[in-house]
Amino acid sequence: MPAPRILRPTRLNLVRAASMLRSGGIVGVPSETVYGLAADALNAEACAKIFAAKGRPSTDPLIVHLASADELASVAVPKDEAWRLARACWPGPLTLVLPKLPIVPDTITAGRPTVAVRVPGHAVFRDLIRLAGRPLAAPSANPFGYVSPTCAAHVRDGLRDTGLRLIVDGGECEIGVESTIVDLTEPERPRLLRPGGLAVEEVERILGRAVLRPVARGGVVATGVAAPAPGMLAQHYSPRTALTLRERLTPAFVQALGAREAVLLLRRPDEARTGRGKKRDARIHWLSEAGELDEIARNLFARLRELDTGGWERIYAEAPEGAGGLAPAIRDRLTRAAAQGGDAENLEIRRFGKAETQKR
Ligand code: TXA
Ligand code: MG
Repeated sequence: MPAPRILRPTRLNLVRAASMLRSGGIVGVPSETVYGLAADALNAEACAKIFAAKGRPSTDPLIVHLASADELASVAVPKDEAWRLARACWPGPLTLVLPKLPIVPDTITAGRPTVAVRVPGHAVFRDLIRLAGRPLAAPSANPFGYVSPTCAAHVRDGLRDTGLRLIVDGGECEIGVESTIVDLTEPERPRLLRPGGLAVEEVERILGRAVLRPVARGGVVATGVAAPAPGMLAQHYSPRTALTLRERLTPAFVQALGAREAVLLLRRPDEARTGRGKKRDARIHWLSEAGELDEIARNLFARLRELDTGGWERIYAEAPEGAGGLAPAIRDRLTRAAAQGGDAENLEIRRFGKAETQKR
């Protein structure tokens, strides 16, 4: 099978991609959060191709993407709260779970009476939805369980030999973590299903009420339990290399690293900043210059992928503290990435929602 082709987002290429979508094909698409693997959301057979290409279990429902908030009532049953959030936050990294209309096939919702909906912040994605003339279902465009893609090359590398032929290039994702998912099926009891690119306190401000957070601080719903959102499975977003999460990676810890161990710091360490003349230590990596959360989120998945191909025996990463902004989303992705079966330290993080261990 030929590798998928990466297309520049010219008008002509978007028309080609839209026609592939209209005829039941799948296309890799850019969004402001992560790249998606799109298909016609009203065509169950087309959506089945998404599950096949990703190796995704059919029990894990897909998000439906619309070109504008005005179309919300064409797939779901929104009440006032949903309209308020839609008008305030779309286009943008917020997904709403709402009662579904019969037009949405059960394949997409995995048989649930609800549908997850959002309007993506990337204009190319919205243009494509308009040209296709229908809503597009799209999960993140990675093999199931692996690190999400934040550029077109990630999609191509992950989904070779899957039947995917076209990827529309929209540059690097601006946000870098998936959308925040809020369940509004009971509007008076909004629930956070996944922390993401929109701070949940922003959702609370707009709704004027608290959003319940079944996802505890860095905590994870146990595997095997019917999770409210299957993306909440403990292990997800995982590199193949063993990953251990620590609260803080001290200079002493970094000094004591083995030759085949790498660290992923939240910010550039001082030594590296002033390391003129010194040889850069290939084991030391960082997610941002100064610890800014937006920058950490934007770089997170690309760094994990780079490190995963670096031949390391183990990666140690640190997770940001705090309940504000993108910190919960970043911590959530790192925690799940680290939750590989059998790693006792990580199991501990999984259970207690926090890396208590600084011993080594
Ligand atoms: O930012 C994003 O949301 C990206 C871009 C491409 O839009 N998409 C994305 O899709 O992250 P995916 O499939 O990787 O994650 C969607 C999550 C899954 O955990 C799924 O279980 C949950 O949304 N979900 C979808 N429909 C649902 C529903 N009806 N009820 C509860 N959870 C749902
Ligand atoms: Mg995903």
